[in-house]
Amino acid sequence: MRKHRIKECPSLFGEVSPPGDKSISHRAIILNSIADGASRVINPSLGADCLATVNCLRDLGIDIEGPISDISPTFLIPNKGREDFREPTTILDAKNSGTTIRLLTGLLSTMPFLSIITGDESLRSRPMDRVIEPLRLMGAQIWGRSSDSLAPLAIRGAYLKGIEYRLPISSAQLKSAITIAALFADGPTILEEPSISRDHTEKLLEMMGNGPKKEGQRITITPGPLKALDVRVPGDISSAAYWLVAGAIHPNAQIKILNTGVNPTRTGIIDVLQAMGANLKIENQRCEGNEPVADLHIQSSQLVGTEVAGELIPRLIDEIPLIALAASQAQGTTIIRDAAELRIKESDRIAAPVKELGRLGVQIEELPDGMVIHGGEPLTGDRCYSYNDHRLAMTLGIAGLIARGETIIEGTEVVDVSYPSFWEDLRKLTPPQFSLVETG
Ligand code: S3P
Repeated sequence: MRKHRIKECPSLFGEVSPPGDKSISHRAIILNSIADGASRVINPSLGADCLATVNCLRDLGIDIEGPISDISPTFLIPNKGREDFREPTTILDAKNSGTTIRLLTGLLSTMPFLSIITGDESLRSRPMDRVIEPLRLMGAQIWGRSSDSLAPLAIRGAYLKGIEYRLPISSAQLKSAITIAALFADGPTILEEPSISRDHTEKLLEMMGNGPKKEGQRITITPGPLKALDVRVPGDISSAAYWLVAGAIHPNAQIKILNTGVNPTRTGIIDVLQAMGANLKIENQRCEGNEPVADLHIQSSQLVGTEVAGELIPRLIDEIPLIALAASQAQGTTIIRDAAELRIKESDRIAAPVKELGRLGVQIEELPDGMVIHGGEPLTGDRCYSYNDHRLAMTLGIAGLIARGETIIEGTEVVDVSYPSFWEDLRKLTPPQFSLVETG
């Protein structure tokens, strides 16, 4: 197990480019693998999650080349479309990646063969019935452990029919799994979400010639072919978020975060930090492909407590452990509610951050669907654990920058899931005398 020892850091200055957006990378790779023609996915996430998607598709006969290194890393998807898919001779391994297993389950439900897909211990404990139920309503044949709710999943492709379905939760993984299956159904599918979740699948499909019709929280997907599309993936706002919070809570910081995706279905973290009084500027806004992109500028800020709940939650679901850290340095109390989904992420992202931030001195209480943080207490370094959760490991890394003395984080290899260059980028922003030691 790898460990990082971090000492309190005197300053944070400089520029950083976050890695390619993980959600967009999965989708650009999967959708291009079923599209007609060759394509390139430029600047994809090279985290273990996206590599799991690439390797599953290779096991399904899709000859993805790369990452070749030009100016930006690139995957080449040289296929002719859906006909290239073959029955896998091995069990597909989604590793730690919920997006991989759920989106591919949607796709495999439509393929004329049998496949089995599984993942690591964490993924095998996460609910899959949310995708199995609607796909079965479409006619899919899927079986899983524990009364068809857990992976490994066995999927025998079938002819699917279009359905009208109200999603019980706002989940982009669920919406995208059904959307991908619906592309091959015998008629339109109508989906309605309780509140809007990330819409990268819809945006890519628009550019590929078969965009769903959108009316508020309802989308209609019409079956039809896709044209291959070269995609330049913007930087991941969920990775940029570490530097936004670091810059806001550190007393001597000024950070520029370049080329970050600012799709409104993902920018809840910016809204919350602005509501807390952060010195955050959005600069150089532009559109790349079909996605809005900007540079973000953050500097030391005096934050105040806030409330995070309701429709905001899906727009910042992966940033909540970090928001809890930001709240610990704010004046007043912050309440996070309506976030029970956190309990079934890579770790229990309510219990684990409450325990680990608590070790560093954060005044934090657990709620069934969120947490309460009483801000204003300085942090003190201690030994803490990642729970094998990439987002918790990186949140603790940022906490270590402001905690007095030394913070030791155990299980830091897990940052490779979404942000392999996290520690390197952290070093870029810190002065030469800053002490960051990796062991194990
Ligand atoms: C993701 C959607 C979110 C998010 C996950 C990535 C995606 O999950 O937590 O990290 O790429 O669709 P849910 O849609 O299940 O909330």
